[in-house]
Amino acid sequence: LASIDVDLAPVQEGQAITVTWRGKPVFVRHRTAKEIEEARTVNLGELRDPAADDARVKKPEWLIVIGICTHLGCVPLGQKPTDPRGEFDGWFCPCHGSHYDTAGRIRKGPAPANLVVPQYAFTSDTAVRLG
Ligand code: FES
Repeated sequence: LASIDVDLAPVQEGQAITVTWRGKPVFVRHRTAKEIEEARTVNLGELRDPAADDARVKKPEWLIVIGICTHLGCVPLGQKPTDPRGEFDGWFCPCHGSHYDTAGRIRKGPAPANLVVPQYAFTSDTAVRLG
C-alpha cells in the first residue's frame, strides 16, 4: 500500500509500536517528557548528522522513523520495554553497535546517518497517515 493509517490512541506515553509500510518497519514512539527533553537539549555541534529535534517531529510526543539502521540495514532494538536502547535512550543496533538517541539521531557507532523520517501527516490528534 502506498499510504497507511496508524491509530495512535492505544499507544501510551513511554510505549512504542512498529508498523510495516512499503515493506519496511516504521517505529512510532510516544515519547516521555524526559525523552523529549533529552532530544532537545543536545548540542547540535556534537552530532554526526546534525538535525534539530523539532525538524524531525511534527508533535514533540510522537517520533516516527523508519526502523532500519543506516549502516547496513539491520533493525535496531529499542521498541520493546525489555530491549536495550543504547547509551542515548533511543535504539541500539546489535549488528555493529550503533546507538541512536530519542530523536533517532546517530550518536555512536558506525552508522553514518540518522534514522530516516518518513513522509507522514497527522489526520487527527490520534491518527497519522504514512505516505
Ligand atoms: Fe546497524 Fe551495522 S547495521 S550498526
